[in-house]
Amino acid sequence: MKIKTYMISLFVTAAISTSASVIAKEPVQPISPVKDINLAQVELGKKLFFDPRLSKSGFISCNSCHNLSMGGTDNIKTSIGHNWQQGPINSPTVLNSSHNIAQFWDGRAADLKEQAGGPIENPGEMASTHTLAIDILQSIPGYVTEFQQVFGSNKIDIDKVTQAIAEFEKTLVTPNSRFDKWLLGDKNAINKTELAGYNLFKQAGCTACHYGEALGGTSFQKMGLIKPYKTTNKAVGLAGVTGKDADRFKFKVPTLRNVEMTYPYFHDGEAATLTEAVDIMGKLQLGKQFTKSENTQIVAFLKTLTGEQPSFTLPILPPSVDKTPKPTPFN
Ligand code: HEC
Ligand code: HEC
Repeated sequence: MKIKTYMISLFVTAAISTSASVIAKEPVQPISPVKDINLAQVELGKKLFFDPRLSKSGFISCNSCHNLSMGGTDNIKTSIGHNWQQGPINSPTVLNSSHNIAQFWDGRAADLKEQAGGPIENPGEMASTHTLAIDILQSIPGYVTEFQQVFGSNKIDIDKVTQAIAEFEKTLVTPNSRFDKWLLGDKNAINKTELAGYNLFKQAGCTACHYGEALGGTSFQKMGLIKPYKTTNKAVGLAGVTGKDADRFKFKVPTLRNVEMTYPYFHDGEAATLTEAVDIMGKLQLGKQFTKSENTQIVAFLKTLTGEQPSFTLPILPPSVDKTPKPTPFN
């Protein structure tokens, strides 16, 4: 019995170290779930993420534009905000966003906590103010009790609100995609076409920018490196943050995890399909015209990057009371 156990553990160790060395050679790594999460903050942050009372209209929540039933996006070209305003830019996914070096297409927020305060006050998004949002939360007994339990203080402020939302967002990692299973040694997890697509993805040079655990999110790169990208969208990218002309049209390389679900593509949402996005990337970033079958293979590979989507019970929000400030749906 003892020998048998020993042999099994030897075998397991050998199998793990083999796959570990295979992974080390790949430019793409399996995505790792977050560690050191504060579960009480996560539960509170989940409620806030789904709570439309953080908006002036009482109608728009974070989940309106980062719908967790749709890959953490809204699946429209550019987001719709307060008063049906058409937003200036495509909504990136919140899935795996904890892996980003910075937040937003131009990286203007350092991290998830800093980011979360923005949309509440953005007149084109939730159009509220931090003061109004806090007044609303502070008037709701269910929230006051929960903030007391989570933060040891019943005084709600924007710092605690964004802290809890960010903590929730850190849990939105999507592990166990078929491609990650393949990376971890399950050779049957992807088929021949998908594998051919991955090899092409590497050979063509896509991994120069889309690498690591999230296949993106780690650098800012020029859109239209070899040939210029034509768009009527006014976003200038990183240059808007650094003020440097050399940073014009540099955008944060988006993650390709769950990319099958996060259409339409690019900061302007102009590419409706993956086929189109891959064709444009080949031409503009690498000077390559993919054949129809090459394109099909790369798209097939990209679809193996869909991981396990966040799964939880829909949070039930504590009800407003008589004194809670009322929503202003219009204007
Ligand atoms: C009206 C639609 C809308 C609402 C509501 C909204 N967002 Fe966003 N979100 C966007 C758009 C559009 C961007 C990209 C803006 C940019 O890069 O300039 C974005 C960017 C982000 C990012 C950065 C992701 C990345 O890869 O850079 C995160 C994280 C995020 N939002 C979380 C939130 C949270 C949390 C809330 C609620 C407090 C929220 N959003 C509310 C539309 C929205
Ligand atoms: C030089 C860096 C670079 C290379 C090489 C590159 N990309 Fe990209 N990729 C980007 C940037 C930057 C964006 C965002 C551009 C934008 O939104 O304007 C992007 C966006 C994408 C998107 C859209 C994702 C989304 O959510 O909007 C896909 C799909 C994509 N790339 C696939 C590929 C493929 C496939 C290859 C190889 C053929 C490739 N990329 C090569 C930098 C690169």
